[in-house]
Amino acid sequence: MLYDSYKWWQKTVVYQIYPRSFKDSTGNGIGDIKGIIEKLDYLQDLGIETIWFSPFFESPQQDYGYDVSDFRQIEPNYGSMNDFDKLLKEMHNRNLKIVLDLVLNHTSIKHPWFIESASSKDNPKRDWYIWRDGKKPGGRKPPNNWKAIPGSPAWLYYENTDQWVYFHFLPFQPDLNYRNPEVKEEMFDTIRFWLDKGVDGFRLDILHGIYEDESLRDNPITWLLYSEEKAAYNFQYHKYDLNLPETFSFTLELREIMDEYKPERLLVGEVTGSIEELKKYYGPNNNGLNMVFLFEYTSIALKFKPKKISKDISRIEKNLPIPYTPTYVYGNHDRDRYISLLNNNTQKAKLLATMQLTLRGVPYIYYGEEIGMANVKLKLKASKDPIGRKFAKFPYPQLTKLLGIFVSRDVCRTPMQWSGETNAGFSPNKNVEPWLKVSENYKKVNVEKEEKDPRSILNCYKRLLKVREENLTLQIGEFEFINLEKLNKKCIAYRRIHNKQVVYIYLNFSDKEILLKTPKKEPNLIFSTLSNRKALDPKEYNRNLKLTPYEGIIFK
Ligand code: GLC
Repeated sequence: MLYDSYKWWQKTVVYQIYPRSFKDSTGNGIGDIKGIIEKLDYLQDLGIETIWFSPFFESPQQDYGYDVSDFRQIEPNYGSMNDFDKLLKEMHNRNLKIVLDLVLNHTSIKHPWFIESASSKDNPKRDWYIWRDGKKPGGRKPPNNWKAIPGSPAWLYYENTDQWVYFHFLPFQPDLNYRNPEVKEEMFDTIRFWLDKGVDGFRLDILHGIYEDESLRDNPITWLLYSEEKAAYNFQYHKYDLNLPETFSFTLELREIMDEYKPERLLVGEVTGSIEELKKYYGPNNNGLNMVFLFEYTSIALKFKPKKISKDISRIEKNLPIPYTPTYVYGNHDRDRYISLLNNNTQKAKLLATMQLTLRGVPYIYYGEEIGMANVKLKLKASKDPIGRKFAKFPYPQLTKLLGIFVSRDVCRTPMQWSGETNAGFSPNKNVEPWLKVSENYKKVNVEKEEKDPRSILNCYKRLLKVREENLTLQIGEFEFINLEKLNKKCIAYRRIHNKQVVYIYLNFSDKEILLKTPKKEPNLIFSTLSNRKALDPKEYNRNLKLTPYEGIIFK
């Protein structure tokens, strides 16, 4: 099947910026919008098209912007509305698309709406949040057994009104009540406010939690501590607080707003569940979200087992065939840096990047991945991330391993490494201490150094992005596995096809050299993870195509 007509967002590459850590222009140790503008030329040269910004709306920064106190203002830490308008203009002048991070699910406790809502039971904003009596008798126990993502009960008691308020994430982030039409209208107007300014789309923060069961039924219990596929965490199946039918319908309403605008806008959802469940977010006729993050792939790919990876890609292809758009992600501001999960093996990282940028779907690159930035170990007690402080009492490394999920998210949020200068060139002020410590490896791993080295990860990403840009087949072509029989345990091979154009991708996941049959008589090599391999040797035609350890190649 082919895309009858393809949209910009189906073939785009997204780059995620965590504004606090990208580039400080003022010298106060915190990244800002002006700093981002300074680096737009770098991003354009890298070859990405779309930038998703973690939130820079007004916020007390208890969760660094995921706790919003005004959805229509820019947080002064990051700049002003004028700076934002300039960013948008500068991006559009360069044909870059801008995607904002919308936290529809909750606000900060410091949002004026919540302050009003918490003040008394008869305040007009009371019903903007989810307030309930505690369990009888006495009311001193939470209304039901729901757990918040980081582990505690999902309810906070307010003595002044003797009621509990519901929160899906952290206690200072109470959930908005979307069963109240006023809330919906206000948030839809907020979306229009940013669309009117010209933004190209939104990443929707924990969208799966927009609605919860109205009668607050208890979630079923399980022995599972965490399962992406089963939407289980903290020993509960999140049957009544996640992925409700009302939330799926909500995506159709969001799409309708987007469709008021031309050209098309992008909606990508952060959601948890099996791929069969997640498909519902695309709408019954692909008329909901444009795409959702598929984090199951992330965990599987980083285990580096080709057979398992192929199986997962097959599932994705089966559930989200053309014209659906899958996503391929290795990291974000909540996860370990992917190269750290590969024991800092740069060959493996280049191989996974080759796969990510040649599969059918939209790749999301988290800032710093393109230079191989790694996790930075920081003391949990001093964690800036509130979740890290919560876990400070536990034995950190063992626990992370056990859980396989984030403990302190500081590890992946350290300042971007631009150069070998003090503070990795992140801040113009050499005496300032950046809000998070710069990685000790910045003299080795930085943009300036890697730009000069043809073998660097950065130059590998650049070459990949260029090959993708030059070959429409890699952007929108159909996907088909090539069966390598006995080698399937060591390699993954597939082709992409568009209008009779075929592009082949061969990836060697083993540490041994491998000889393969080629499907073409005289393959034309257009990319290898080895920077000095420019063409195939005629001796390699037919049956002797050589793949060195962890090498990935693309040919036509
Ligand atoms: C999402 C964000 C995370 C944030 C949370 C609460 O999971 O990715 O960073 O803390 O939602 O908004």
